[in-house]
Amino acid sequence: MQRTKIAGIGKFLPEKVVTNNDLTKVMETSDEWIQERTGIKERRYAKRFEDTTTTMGAEAAKIAMERAGVGPADIDFIIFATLSPDYYFPGCGVLLQRLLGMNEIGALDIRNQCSGFIYGMSVADQFIKTGMYKNILLVGSETHSYALDFSTRGRNVSVIFGDGAGAVVLQPSAREGQGILSTHLHSNGQEAELLSMPNPGFHAGRFWPEKKPAQPDGEFGGMFITEEIIRTDDLYPNMDGPAVFKKAVIKFPEVVMEALEKNNLSTSDINMLIPHQANLRIAQFVQQKLRLRDDQVHNNIQQYGNTTAASVPIALCEAWELGKIKDDDLVCLAAFGSGFTWGSALLRW
Ligand code: UT7
Repeated sequence: MQRTKIAGIGKFLPEKVVTNNDLTKVMETSDEWIQERTGIKERRYAKRFEDTTTTMGAEAAKIAMERAGVGPADIDFIIFATLSPDYYFPGCGVLLQRLLGMNEIGALDIRNQCSGFIYGMSVADQFIKTGMYKNILLVGSETHSYALDFSTRGRNVSVIFGDGAGAVVLQPSAREGQGILSTHLHSNGQEAELLSMPNPGFHAGRFWPEKKPAQPDGEFGGMFITEEIIRTDDLYPNMDGPAVFKKAVIKFPEVVMEALEKNNLSTSDINMLIPHQANLRIAQFVQQKLRLRDDQVHNNIQQYGNTTAASVPIALCEAWELGKIKDDDLVCLAAFGSGFTWGSALLRW
């Protein structure tokens, strides 16, 4: 069967660098704490009132398309992964279609947080393998900095995240052996609230009684953004960091091994592992568990923080730009995050 290749890849990081010391000016934290617990030294923040999730995605997409030798008119499907969309609806996919002046092609938004790019790659792979589409633009983009709690209360979450975008153009491969070998997707919603942002939601209290807002007066409406939510400042992401950490270090290696076993390969065959950049300590733990050498893993959380759906394409693009990925290399992408959802993709470059 026809395989799917990455024909072009691009990334966009906003210029504004925010160091750990910059954050100490607005909350009780320290460069030492952040580096020791996460490995992060700095992150990028979008240009306020200018960069958006869609515009940054478009910048990454332009580079990916140029490198693939295609233009907006050649793209026949858009997949956009983000947890920080410009609008509650419609999704960023259609905003990107408009911004890049594309044809009236399909646009699909993916709400899978950290694993969104891997999920998107799996969906694109099915469309290409069956011959339905020939040029799919897959984007992961985030503007976390617009909606984090920058008070000390939110410090366990806000110091981690950064803004940025990555994109790939996926096409059928003509070269023997090249392309996506397999993708592996998983979810377990048992502990969905451990890493979540329930508001604004249409009925957060139904599943999370402690978060149940005061009952609104009247027979209709009033349950979406209540006064209680605004009064209690309950509009930020929640994370039980240690619980997420413990799950991540199990599921990351598991899903990498699943991909290798499916293809009768072993960890020594991996030329480059690109783990979702959640925390350098998680990536190091995974590397150790899989007994991978330093040159088999690429991390860049130190410079960009955790950019959720954008982190895998940004790191993949950077590794490729640095010459760390060459033709025929075996590349493994893996992610774990909110949901929980996790997945991997194994590809021959
Ligand atoms: O990509 C999405 C998936 N997300 C993840 O994979 C995140 C996984 N989890 C983590 O990366 C880590 O759990 C964190 C980096 C979020 C937190 O590190 P930790 O070593 O698990 O720290 P902790 O949450 O257990 O907190 C330890 C202490 C607490 O103080 P006390 O109770 O011991 O006095 C926190 O209040 O560190 C405190 N703390 C901070 N101190 C300074 C939490 N955040 C900060 C901060 N600066 N930013």
